[in-house]
Amino acid sequence: MVARKFFVGGNFKMNGSLTEIETIIERINEAKFDGSTEIVVAPPALYLLKIQEELKAPSQVAAQNSFTEKSGAFTGEISPSQLKDANVHWVILGHSERRSLFGDTDKLVADKVKAAIENGLAVIACVGESLEQREAGETQEIVERQLETIAKEISESEWKDVVIAYEPVWAIGTGKVATKEQAQEVHDQIRKWLAKRVTQSVADQTRIIYGGSVNGKNCADLANAPDIDGFLVGGASLKPEFIDICNSHK
Ligand code: G3P
Repeated sequence: MVARKFFVGGNFKMNGSLTEIETIIERINEAKFDGSTEIVVAPPALYLLKIQEELKAPSQVAAQNSFTEKSGAFTGEISPSQLKDANVHWVILGHSERRSLFGDTDKLVADKVKAAIENGLAVIACVGESLEQREAGETQEIVERQLETIAKEISESEWKDVVIAYEPVWAIGTGKVATKEQAQEVHDQIRKWLAKRVTQSVADQTRIIYGGSVNGKNCADLANAPDIDGFLVGGASLKPEFIDICNSHK
């Protein structure tokens, strides 16, 4: 059995102020962690440098999005090389809000993943189905389609720089968390897909984390599932319970 280091990402989305970010930084810096969880926090881009400088473990910082090009006339975008230059190590790509609100297609997500890895970043790659797709029995097809587009752009060795986040759209921000069984079923399908599409070793080593209404109460049960290797947390990442979620696998 390959040991996969538990991974928890905090996606602040477009939330927070300088004061709130300072409170969160202090909370994380003062928390008791035993090193068994890889923790990454993704503030709004405006606060990246601040959180990067003030977190005790600077490797814990992620951007919420990046573009494909190194530089140029792309107003409002941030390039992967600029993130690397700012000593940011992670980037969240393919989040359902980027897909639904900002038009990130499967192909654009895959191109962003490729560019991020080529620039030395590690990627939290988000996949997940809508409620309609789940009710139509299309969950596996949708998730594998999203993953296949990424697999076409990266090499076997580059999967070491990818954490897959399964985020059912119907669970994001709704309070309707997936049951352990629902999440485990999809995580198992993803791991089996990785073994078939890439290699068994990549399947064994890739962290597959769950996102969608995770909180301090439901995290321990979810963390018990064999193929749930951690969480991508939205709302609860801004609250004290984020610390409990980071320690939920113990
Ligand atoms: O990226 C994590 C996010 O989509 C989940 O949000 O608020 O349901 O934890 P939330």
